[in-house]
Amino acid sequence: MAVVNYEKEGRIAIMTLNRPEALNALSAELSAELRAAMIDFRDDPELWVAIVTGAGDRAFSAGADIKGFRPGPREGQPELPTEVVRADKIWKPFIAAIHGYCLGGGLELAMTCDIRIAADDSQFGQPEINIGFLPGAGGTQRLPRFVPRAWAAEILLTGDRIDAQTALSIGLVSRVVPRDQLMPTAMEMAKTICTRAPLGVRACKEAMIRGYELSLEEGLTLEREKVAECRATEDFAEGARAFVEKRPPNYKAK
Ligand code: CAA
Repeated sequence: MAVVNYEKEGRIAIMTLNRPEALNALSAELSAELRAAMIDFRDDPELWVAIVTGAGDRAFSAGADIKGFRPGPREGQPELPTEVVRADKIWKPFIAAIHGYCLGGGLELAMTCDIRIAADDSQFGQPEINIGFLPGAGGTQRLPRFVPRAWAAEILLTGDRIDAQTALSIGLVSRVVPRDQLMPTAMEMAKTICTRAPLGVRACKEAMIRGYELSLEEGLTLEREKVAECRATEDFAEGARAFVEKRPPNYKAK
């Protein structure tokens, strides 16, 4: 049985972590399947936006599979798929639809998504410190870049969890919705993004992600490069034409 359900609905890819009995812990098998789904999403021209979510009532993901941990060096041990987006240059957007536990590698995975929507029952944390470890899939680096530093330090160094409203108040997620509205909200947002010019969306994401690591000067240079690329697309011409003709644009990702 697949431990990631990978579905395609029109232009939207839905990746559902599917080990509910283990709170969707990120086993080697699940990580491999998720990576394969992400690469398929990147390479399928029909797909424009992805949603990552968790199966079952209790968790988005409780993190790396602790039962698979082996002491000693990391070599030969499975990597979580948290660097796929950057390393494999997936500039199509990802939405994380989060409910229940979103811990450790689960939170690190959610932080590699571009937009995080939380159900009101969500709980977030980096509990690695409780088990003699530290976040090893980007958490020590992304969390302090995403939320105020004092909150990042508290979450990372205590291992305690925060609830959905706190996550919202510190900017870890962009909205909190009732549990039964989670997937409808994520789908609606994905559909909205699908009405926008896809190459513009991807250029925008690439500039944003790569820009985090650049000086303002370098970031503005990157932005100018992306603007030049975008201006050369058919969709750029179509967007302006549709505006003038007062009709919805018909984008083709060209
Ligand atoms: N790995 C493997 N199995 C896990 C798991 C994990 N991260 N989290 C939960 N499970 C399993 C449990 O072992 C249990 O399985 P069994 O029924 O076979 O015993 C099942 O999921 C249900 O979990 P609990 O019975 O523990 O449920 P609970 O409601 O009592 O507690 C919880 C829920 C607080 C989330 C607790 O399960 C927990 O603390 N889990 C571990 C969270 C954690 O430490 N995550 C970080 C992992 S390390 C990491 O992610 C490293 C990194 O940065 C890459």
